[in-house]
Amino acid sequence: MDIFKTIKPLIYKTDPEFAHNAVETIFKTARRCPLFFNSLTKRNFIDNPILNQKIWDLEFKNPVGVAAGFDKNATMVSAWPALGFGWGEIGAVTPLPQPGNEKPRSWRHVEYEAIQNAFGFNNEGVEVIKKRLSKIYPFILPIAANIGKNKTTPEDKAIEDYKILVKELKDVVDFFVINISSPNTPNLRNLLNEEFINNIFNELKPLTKKPILIKFSPDMEDADIVNLANISVEAGADGIIATNTTINYDIINSPIKRGGISGKPLAKRSFEVLRIIASEIFGKVPIISVGGIDSAEEAYKRIRMGASLLQIYTAIIYKGPGIVRKINKGLIELLKKDGFNHISEATGIDIPKKIKG
Ligand code: FNR
Repeated sequence: MDIFKTIKPLIYKTDPEFAHNAVETIFKTARRCPLFFNSLTKRNFIDNPILNQKIWDLEFKNPVGVAAGFDKNATMVSAWPALGFGWGEIGAVTPLPQPGNEKPRSWRHVEYEAIQNAFGFNNEGVEVIKKRLSKIYPFILPIAANIGKNKTTPEDKAIEDYKILVKELKDVVDFFVINISSPNTPNLRNLLNEEFINNIFNELKPLTKKPILIKFSPDMEDADIVNLANISVEAGADGIIATNTTINYDIINSPIKRGGISGKPLAKRSFEVLRIIASEIFGKVPIISVGGIDSAEEAYKRIRMGASLLQIYTAIIYKGPGIVRKINKGLIELLKKDGFNHISEATGIDIPKKIKG
């Protein structure tokens, strides 16, 4: 019996933020019961040579990671393997603790299998999160930190916030993701420009040898994606994550007029942004695809279009915690069916060839 299917209607009757907090409490409590975690890990965690990859000198047992925003305060890291994830991203973390935007700030669009959120980087701040991570680091899976500026930090001081975060977290995470693509911190997306990207990598790269990636918005113009992908790589980005949530409210009926949409309706644009980025920079740095991935078929499509790693968030809510195992198992089958012996052989195989002229 699929317990998730049985309790799903009940979960959907609760406020989404309440439901998420309840899940967090369950995981925090279950951590004290290693037998339970071990049995779940045994079932859900797929470690098959066909999916094992070494990227930036880090070992990824499988490509599916926890997307940013799911474990904002790094309280559930111990549960990641039990859910089947091969890696994960904590945060967004800001230098100072902040409450985020007013509630309600998260909504379900069940008929679309979508979520809309306007959280605004609610988190306990870097000091508390660093302390928590220092108790488990190094972890059995790679951990990335999604870093963001405090709401009250003006745009012209933003880099200082990112510097604090890298300095504070560099010994307790494996890599960083610069978040200037969230729609929920006023004017944050203004920083997705050539000058800021050059400056931020200039300032952050000397602070750590660990990889620093940048996360893109799905709402950028195609020409800006091309330009900023190239600028990011030239500036020193070790990878690009695409995409964050969208504020294109036309993709669903009756949207809330604030916050970003994630899940199934985002898949099309997220894939398109991946295609644009991969056509430009594939082979230079790894690309991570996120946005509406909810099946092995969709995951495989992203890999073939150039994604070395994947992330999911909304699919966990609609498909249940078994989805990670299902995606990884399905990926192995799809790779074998097409005659690949390793995931890297399929990565980027569908990227359209550039016509030189
Ligand atoms: C997010 N996302 C997100 N992204 C980010 O870079 N920093 C963050 O703090 C958050 N917070 C957050 C909260 C909630 C409730 C959601 C649903 C999403 C975006 C997330 O990491 C991902 O990019 C998108 O959700 C698209 O993936 P899915 O959900 O369609 O798999």
